[in-house]
Amino acid sequence: MLRGRIIGTGSTTPKRILTNKDLEAIVDTTDEWITRRTGIKERRISSKTRAEDTSEMATAASKRALEMAGVAPEALDLIVIGTVTPDRQFPSAACMVQKNLGARCAVAFDVSAGCSGFLYALSIANNAIATNNCRNALVVGAERLSGIADWQDRSTCVLLGDGAGAVVLTPGDGNEGILSTHLGSDGSLWELLYASDRIGGPIELPEILDTVEGRPFCLKMEGNKLFKKAVCCLADVAVAAMEHDGLSCDDIMLMVPHQANLRIIRATAERLSIPMEKVYTNLDKYGNTSSASIPIALDEANRKGMLKEGGYVLLVTFGAGLTWGASIVKWSL
Ligand code: ACO
Repeated sequence: MLRGRIIGTGSTTPKRILTNKDLEAIVDTTDEWITRRTGIKERRISSKTRAEDTSEMATAASKRALEMAGVAPEALDLIVIGTVTPDRQFPSAACMVQKNLGARCAVAFDVSAGCSGFLYALSIANNAIATNNCRNALVVGAERLSGIADWQDRSTCVLLGDGAGAVVLTPGDGNEGILSTHLGSDGSLWELLYASDRIGGPIELPEILDTVEGRPFCLKMEGNKLFKKAVCCLADVAVAAMEHDGLSCDDIMLMVPHQANLRIIRATAERLSIPMEKVYTNLDKYGNTSSASIPIALDEANRKGMLKEGGYVLLVTFGAGLTWGASIVKWSL
């Protein structure tokens, strides 16, 4: 049976750091509150002048992943990007990345699934490989959430950050690679997290955020309700993935969860009886980067040598839609 194997990872985050202290000057908040309630200490904010738009970050992350994989852009058949913040409504961020890379043989499109965008994209690419419709696929999660943050709403703007991560998939025929992907959605709960029309036009932003453009919509969230739903969904879909592949929590080498809130991650790990030493977190540095959080974390863990060949990696996510997903990868890099 053909499976997608991850043969390269890459990521990038913008240069500009926005700390919790910086946020104290923007909204009525404190470093202490943000750290205690979320685990976030700082996040990266993109700048148009530094070529850090969604497709530009996606391109930089993709170049790193392709370099590690030793795959030329012309050899890509498929580019799928999970994003809710493409540069434009259309064309897709994936088509912009195709142009930037010179990946002229690829089919390129975006997937909108909130913070689950990367796992949805991974599932699509893996299915294309498993059905022999594709040899080399580039799967990316890329977001510029700073552009849709409401910088007057302290309950959401402190959570968000920008960045991109990518993986290259190629067919493997053994037991290694993506063993399974499990996705779910519940549109009846869409109002817990959505993009609303901005009221009152562009917002006056402090100097530190001077390059954030006024998009016509901004993020709205019912954090409390989402929190509870997130913990249940993450644990349930992770269990479904492990059961499907005949694994127990003890078999997991590393869990790489979506980085929304450290308390959500801890509660999920506790439900799964996975010790925090086996859970990768980096939200202290980047905040919630939506679709980009898992591939950024995976790339960091990979480059730190935390992923050993033959070990099982559990990817698990939850986000707007509502959407959720999990995947088990038998590492083979
Ligand atoms: N600084 C200081 N006080 C704050 C802040 C802030 N930044 N934000 C909210 N507060 C206040 C509230 O006003 C409230 O005050 P009150 O008690 O006087 O009314 C109090 O803190 C508690 O607010 P809660 O919303 O109950 O705080 P909670 O502990 O739930 O934490 C948080 C809020 C961090 C948003 C949490 O609910 C959360 O992480 N939710 C899940 C987010 C998530 O998973 N999203 C899904 C993916 S995100 C995506 O797709 C982009």
